[in-house]
Amino acid sequence: MTQQTQPEPATQPPAATTADEPASGGQPATGRQTLPCDVGELRTLFLFEKLDDEQLAWLCREGRVELFPPGPVYAEGDPATCFYVLIEGTLVMSRRIGGDDVEVNRSSGRGVYTGAFRAYLGDRVPQAYDNSLRVTETSRFYVLDADKFAAMMRDWFPMAVHMLEGLFFGIKNIQQQVGQRERLLALGSLSAGLTHELNNPAAAAVRATSTLRDRVAGMRHKLRLVASGRFDPAALEALIRLQEEAVERVAKAPELSPMEASDREDAVGDWLEDHGISGGWDLAPTFVQAGLEVAWLDQVAAVVDDGTLEASICWLNYTVETELLMNEIEDSTKRVSHLVTAAKQYSQLDRAPYQVVDVHELLKSTLMMLHGKLGDGITVVKDFDRSLPPIPAYPAELNQVWTNLIDNAVSAMDGHGTLTVRTARDNDRVLVEIGDTGPGIPRDIQNRIFEPFFTTKPVGEGTGLGLDISYRIVVTRHHGDLRVESEPGNTRFQVRLPITASEADSVATPVAATPATPGDTTPATAEES
Ligand SMILES: Nc1ncnc2c1ncn2[C@@H]1O[C@H](COP(=O)(O)OP(=O)(O)O)[C@@H](O)[C@H]1O
Ligand SMILES: [Mg+2]
Repeated sequence: MTQQTQPEPATQPPAATTADEPASGGQPATGRQTLPCDVGELRTLFLFEKLDDEQLAWLCREGRVELFPPGPVYAEGDPATCFYVLIEGTLVMSRRIGGDDVEVNRSSGRGVYTGAFRAYLGDRVPQAYDNSLRVTETSRFYVLDADKFAAMMRDWFPMAVHMLEGLFFGIKNIQQQVGQRERLLALGSLSAGLTHELNNPAAAAVRATSTLRDRVAGMRHKLRLVASGRFDPAALEALIRLQEEAVERVAKAPELSPMEASDREDAVGDWLEDHGISGGWDLAPTFVQAGLEVAWLDQVAAVVDDGTLEASICWLNYTVETELLMNEIEDSTKRVSHLVTAAKQYSQLDRAPYQVVDVHELLKSTLMMLHGKLGDGITVVKDFDRSLPPIPAYPAELNQVWTNLIDNAVSAMDGHGTLTVRTARDNDRVLVEIGDTGPGIPRDIQNRIFEPFFTTKPVGEGTGLGLDISYRIVVTRHHGDLRVESEPGNTRFQVRLPITASEADSVATPVAATPATPGDTTPATAEES
């Protein structure tokens, strides 16, 4: 398939009025000529070979033979009004893909037909030309109006029309169902991943809550001891001050390496033992985790007398431990609510289908949803250009594109490698690139991977629709571009999306001017306690 750029066909006036060739003959306005229709000649075209004389005469009577000068004949998207059969000359069919016109067929074959060949399906399909047609030399066509062509097909070949309908709608149905299945599979693996992700913090919160209940009960018992009058008021006041200080220290506790932590636990454990506190070694880890050291314990010892030191230390340990547990519960519940927010972001359930969005928010929520799938062996590198403007888009659909591309990258790397998600500006477009360090795509299949149903994965694993769907979302829906560059160890799928909406889109755009910003949708669950 060759690719070439031509004058934009959509902006051409309807083909019938092209007059860029000096007219020869009777129709100077169009450069086209109607010629006599010869029944004998029609009979030589393979399409008409079995028709009887009467039918051929009907074709000549109802249709016409036309001569076209080099140039456009009809444009993609225009109402499909005529059925064309090439008698002599060379035609080129092209389709608009992204911003380019891509040649899909070039032929000088007698009897090659195009145009309104789906007219007999009536209004159940859009009756518009699905390609642009031009001729590269003066060419002669047999031309029949679409409604006459449809009537002729139904009258002359009723059974064939039924069977063609079956074929046409059958294939469409199958494609739709497989597409739906693909989406469901993707959703299934996502929700499995999400469940897994939610399970850890939820279980942690439940565990921490039950320990907390235990410790609070312990504190109530200690309170009885304190209240029994063995503390003098001054010592009690000092203890309460130390308690407040301990709580503050927990909030600022530094992250310790396992080595540092164990050194400090030794020191604290020794101190507690030296001061005759039973179970001192069990208390040490909690103090260390809270960032409290020997120096602080010395302060405690200085304000309470020996008789009450042990009770004081236990009381403070309870304080610190409940604080740590509450932090843990806060972290877990925050993680749960972040995941739920990401899932909501990802599915875009409560959002307008078409709006102005920050691609980074979409990428982040997709990565969060796929976190479980990435596993430990895959390093994720986010190379984001934060200065990119938000773009008009169908966010839920774009999320499906990222999901498909990341899914492919992950399965190509087979559990080990680096996934790079890069964003950058490319003139008037936003570039999103998903890179992986897998084995790459062999050159001979690189132009096939976007075909529907093309897969190299075992039956049951791949449907071969991921890239087809992604392509349609990016190119057809967003007027963007999706391409791949691949060599072993470096495969990059590049999505380019226009920064400004095309006219057709912006007319129907209920633009919600609130691009998602980080954190603004996070419920304030455990934020203030
Ligand atoms: N990142 C990648 N690395 C290597 N091959 C890839 C990559 N992405 C896609 N492919 C190839 O493209 C094919 C089609 O991908 P896709 O349309 O998503 O279907 P499926 O994933 O179901 O096979 C894959 O089977 C694979 O051969
Ligand atoms: Mg795939």
